[in-house]
Amino acid sequence: MTPKEINSKLVIPSSDSASPVKTEEAAFIYNFIKERELKKTLEVGFAYAKSASHIIAATESAHIACDPFQDHYQNLGLENIKTLGLDGLLDFRNDFSHNVLPELLKQEKLFEFIFIDGDHKFDGELIDFYYADLLLEENGFVLLHDTWMRSTALVSAFIKTNRKNYKEIPTGLRNLALYQKVGKDERDGMHFKEFYTLKSILSHYGILYMSSGETNWLKRTLMKIKDWIK
Ligand SMILES: C[S@@+](CC[C@H](N)C(=O)[O-])C[C@H]1O[C@@H](n2cnc3c(N)ncnc32)[C@H](O)[C@@H]1O
Repeated sequence: MTPKEINSKLVIPSSDSASPVKTEEAAFIYNFIKERELKKTLEVGFAYAKSASHIIAATESAHIACDPFQDHYQNLGLENIKTLGLDGLLDFRNDFSHNVLPELLKQEKLFEFIFIDGDHKFDGELIDFYYADLLLEENGFVLLHDTWMRSTALVSAFIKTNRKNYKEIPTGLRNLALYQKVGKDERDGMHFKEFYTLKSILSHYGILYMSSGETNWLKRTLMKIKDWIK
């Protein structure tokens, strides 16, 4: 099944177009996995199953996805997977990643590709990365979504500065950050490198301002400039 066929069948409410990965991001995930013939995959954050459907179609293998809020999405993710005939390959865990990932670790499961797109608060996302690292095979890949968010930008900066056994893989897409685990973690107990970045602070406070309170002339002007730049 191709991304085009998948997208023609996915049901995603137009009122919530911000939740799923963008079509070009889903196509990137599909092609990346297919080209490397990756099979063992795990995902945090399922929503309407846009990323999950592309992952399963690319691997044609079992895929584990966790999300405790499928009912907030009218169970459309599970419905979409069924419509696409991929339900036989989905192992869906209706639970928080902080419960599911340690359980998989205890069962000594290992993965080649882990997609983190669940809780976007900094601490939740860092914990997802912490477990993803332990669950990744050597040479496996971890992909973060929503690098426009300050939280994701900082988790990404942490990996780049503190985790020398991770190599950044360019995606050509500004909202995805991809890393390959290329060796063992050799840090000693005292290891720490500052990872605070100035990048994205402006956009973070800009978005907070734009999405808070009543609209006004400044917000309307900024929106016009944004549309104009697009
Ligand atoms: C941006 S959406 C995921 C979109 C999905 N990857 C796609 O492309 O279709 C984020 C999802 O993460 C889920 N989520 C939030 N906190 C979570 C957690 N702690 N563990 C697992 N999933 C979580 C939400 O319920 C939501 O469905």
